[in-house]
Amino acid sequence: MLEKLKNVEQDALKALDSVQNEAELETWRVAHLGRSSGLMQIFSQFGSLSKEEKPVAGQRANEVKKSLEAAFGARSEELRQAALKRSLEQEQLDVTLPGRRVPLGRLHPDTQTLRELYSIFGEMGFQVFRSREVETDEYNFQLLNFPIGHPARDMQDTYFVESEGRGENPIVLRTHTSPGQMHAMRWISAMNPENPAPVRIVLPGMCYRYEQVTTRHETQFDQLEGLAVGPGITFSDLKGTLADFARRMFGQNTRTRFRASYFPFTEPSAEFDVECFICGGKGCGVCKGSGWLEIGGCGMVHPIVLRNGGYDPERYSGFAFGLGPQRMAMLRHRIEDIRYFWQNDLRFLEQF
Ligand code: FA5
Repeated sequence: MLEKLKNVEQDALKALDSVQNEAELETWRVAHLGRSSGLMQIFSQFGSLSKEEKPVAGQRANEVKKSLEAAFGARSEELRQAALKRSLEQEQLDVTLPGRRVPLGRLHPDTQTLRELYSIFGEMGFQVFRSREVETDEYNFQLLNFPIGHPARDMQDTYFVESEGRGENPIVLRTHTSPGQMHAMRWISAMNPENPAPVRIVLPGMCYRYEQVTTRHETQFDQLEGLAVGPGITFSDLKGTLADFARRMFGQNTRTRFRASYFPFTEPSAEFDVECFICGGKGCGVCKGSGWLEIGGCGMVHPIVLRNGGYDPERYSGFAFGLGPQRMAMLRHRIEDIRYFWQNDLRFLEQF
């Protein structure tokens, strides 16, 4: 029996040398360590051995089994390592190849312009005040001195969100950022109604008008409102502030002008123009030959509006302005159509 065990071991180890892959290794395991293997048959013959032979043969048979199992384990590891090496060789990495460029996002041109405006007005002492986009008629119009039925309401065609049961105070999408003036003044004056603190803020945000969409008009657009209220503020402060803003935004030599205009919430009111920086005032396609570009509306806050905001017009005065950041971005980058802003066409957005 010992001789048989020796042969079984030798045959098995020899056969293992020629095993080349996982499938062959499994076949080898079944043949040499499986239930019908020569080794297992020897185990089943122990019953016929004498008392003296049994322990010797048993010990030897267990040694052979352990040796074959160890050889199986070692061969299995060798095959695994060889497969790993092969796959590493196949997937060789050329570290000298140039990397793939990671596509980077960027800020939308409208956001870039708004941030530039915040920074300029921030340096001039204005804080950003955010106000709601969904308003009541009262805030969007009435408190700003647009009484119900006032013809000036036609300047800003309105989207109504909810009218039913709200009488003369329907809910609207704000048509301009000016209602934010009222929220800000009421909020600040409520803290100290007898002696309200001065105001120096800019109010950015989306506005909505039911307008015919054209190259310069969208139904949804940004505005940047400005408001300064305090004792002794004059029209000269307004002119100085906007002229300084224009120089910081468009260049130190930029000339500006104010044209008389009308808004119900400012008196006097004006349109604010900058000299066309494309043609230098000579007249071109962008400024339609006039040499000037309109940037927004402005004026001295109307006494009725000051009073509605909690500021006594006998003691306080103020100025306000409303600028169109998209129109400014269009002029600066010579964007011919305002519709590009919200189309999300990457060919447009990637240029900024
Ligand atoms: C107003 O909306 C006033 N609230 C501005 C104001 C504020 C005046 C404070 C006085 C004091 P206006 O309708 O002109 O005014 O709009 C101001 C700017 O918003 C315009 O100059 C323009 O740049 C921009 N704007 C107006 N309508 C559109 C539109 N449909 N699409 C794109 N930009 C627009």
